[in-house]
Amino acid sequence: MAKTALVTGSSKGIGRAIALNLAEAGYDVAVNYNSDEAGGLDTCEKIRAMGRRSIAIQANIAKLEDIEKLFREFFAEFPTIDVLVNNAGITRFCPFLEATPELFEQVISVDFRGSYFCAQAAARNMVEHGTQGVIINITSNHQIGHWPTANLYGPIKAALNKFTEHAAMELGKNGIRVISVAPGYTIIRDEQLRRQERGAKNPLAEKIPLNRFGTADEVGKMVAQLCSNPGAGYITGTCLYMDGGALLANVVETQIEPAVWPVTEEMKQAREEERARQRAAWKKAMEEEEAQLKQSEESKA
Ligand SMILES: NC(=O)c1ccc[n+]([C@@H]2O[C@H](COP(=O)([O-])OP(=O)(O)OC[C@H]3O[C@@H](n4cnc5c(N)ncnc54)[C@H](OP(=O)(O)O)[C@@H]3O)[C@@H](O)[C@H]2O)c1
Repeated sequence: MAKTALVTGSSKGIGRAIALNLAEAGYDVAVNYNSDEAGGLDTCEKIRAMGRRSIAIQANIAKLEDIEKLFREFFAEFPTIDVLVNNAGITRFCPFLEATPELFEQVISVDFRGSYFCAQAAARNMVEHGTQGVIINITSNHQIGHWPTANLYGPIKAALNKFTEHAAMELGKNGIRVISVAPGYTIIRDEQLRRQERGAKNPLAEKIPLNRFGTADEVGKMVAQLCSNPGAGYITGTCLYMDGGALLANVVETQIEPAVWPVTEEMKQAREEERARQRAAWKKAMEEEEAQLKQSEESKA
């Protein structure tokens, strides 16, 4: 029988790439989505087209009752679980002085509490059935890097990574491995990927030692290797950074956010003007690049 996997937040982005790569590696994969049903069903269809079993389960992992439903539906289809990937997450940046309890609750309930209780549900089944499974937590290089306005996202990803270490320690005796994968700047949309593949210049990417952004497929392939490659069998309680060296180079988060958040009206206005200037410059560069591309395609034709 094929091994089974559940990937939270696999309706799009990195989660979808992980689900497809696990299917490629021979797993039957349950897809989880929250709001994007079409995306969830599409991932599911793609997995089935690869000859693997798949179901798509709607569940908002910010809600504990939805996590129960997620695993109830998973275990109705697959009696045991070999791999859980806690990928679902929301990325919210906000100046500390403006952060609200609602924002705090929103981020922590998905990015930490949701992953924690999904891991618990999966681990209980693994222990009960003697499955030497794998739990992967998708964190971020923000867990140790310090970027402006990431005062919530960064610490919460750090907490998730710390949880990886504790869970690995407690579950090791059952042969269950728990690993963090921490991506850096990762392209999650097709049009961005096409731009990078055709060599479009990006000033931020140029600051990364590998001179480009990472791709969702690279994260998917690495997660599949960590789960299925026998050479990874002794890896647990640690974190694999996949950020092209961005942490080494202290690459700043964006081109437009100042390191110190503007707190006066004058500073806010100056920031808005700078943003507008940057956006206009960016738009112009994109238009020029598109025109050049069109011209070279026409001259080839
Ligand atoms: N992209 C990057 O550069 C990057 C870098 C470092 C780390 N990461 C981490 O990688 C993970 C995936 O990010 P991504 O960039 O692929 O984001 P994305 O394209 O926005 O996808 C997010 C996924 O999470 C799901 N999700 C969000 N809230 C959920 C909830 N409450 N319950 C269940 N599912 C939920 C979404 O489902 P619906 O669409 O169905 O709502 C979607 O499938 C996140 O944990 C993120 O922190 C990303």
